[in-house]
Amino acid sequence: MKEKTVLVTGANKGIGFGIAKHLGLSGWKVIVGARDKQRAEKAIDELKTVGIDVLGWVNIELKDLNGIKLAANEINEKYPELSLLVNNAGISGDMSVDSEHTEISVIRETLDVNFIGTFALTKALIPLIAKNQGRIVNVTVPSEISPYWHPLAYVASKAAQNAMMGVMAIEFQQAGTPVEIFSVHPGPTTTDLNGNMALDGFHDIETVGQKFTELINDGQHHQSEFIELYPIVRED
Ligand SMILES: NC(=O)c1ccc[n+]([C@@H]2O[C@H](COP(=O)([O-])OP(=O)(O)OC[C@H]3O[C@@H](n4cnc5c(N)ncnc54)[C@H](OP(=O)(O)O)[C@@H]3O)[C@@H](O)[C@H]2O)c1
Repeated sequence: MKEKTVLVTGANKGIGFGIAKHLGLSGWKVIVGARDKQRAEKAIDELKTVGIDVLGWVNIELKDLNGIKLAANEINEKYPELSLLVNNAGISGDMSVDSEHTEISVIRETLDVNFIGTFALTKALIPLIAKNQGRIVNVTVPSEISPYWHPLAYVASKAAQNAMMGVMAIEFQQAGTPVEIFSVHPGPTTTDLNGNMALDGFHDIETVGQKFTELINDGQHHQSEFIELYPIVRED
């Protein structure tokens, strides 16, 4: 049977922590991706307290491309059985301004983290994940522009990340690379990213982690899919 070892980026809090916890509770061995030792160790303590098999943590700062190479080397050496990468870490950019007032530096930083760093880590881990016939799952938002909510830095960075998923899925299929890649939109979730907003329709990280875990463990193929954890039901 295939080893069930997952690396979750940004696993020290928020949705990443919920995903790491519930995958762990369902039997996955967990590697915590974090960019701060103290925050990583705090999360590991909490995960271990509920009985999760945490293999360790890897320092992943998505703005540091050299650091990402080092992290990938470390993962190849220490965790050659890795079969699932959850690209969860991300930032919001500035959601308080319209595009005309968005600083270029904010656009650049948001792209650096949500797209370029995520791409660099994914690219560095594809050979290992292919060797283990594994999966890559991105935590994201839809690329379509909503008239109600459209912070440019964030939606542009996620659209680029979604394009990466679509392109890689086609390439894996065409080349016969044994890797599955797909995207998951968790829907509005109460976390630091949105100032812990808890309006109607928001979920908590436990519910999202649980639903995400059911999806991962459903035994189905999801190559190239964009999956809404909470599909919008239209009443017409
Ligand atoms: N919350 C929502 O409603 C919602 C909806 C749809 C999609 N998402 C997506 O879900 C993912 C997780 O978001 P969240 O809501 O859980 O946010 P969060 O609570 O703010 O957590 C973000 C995580 O990403 C890490 N991170 C931030 N910048 C990083 C960097 N430069 N390098 C490496 N790690 C970094 C953070 O680490 P530190 O603790 O070190 O900062 C933290 O672990 C994001 O990709 C987000 O776009 C969220």
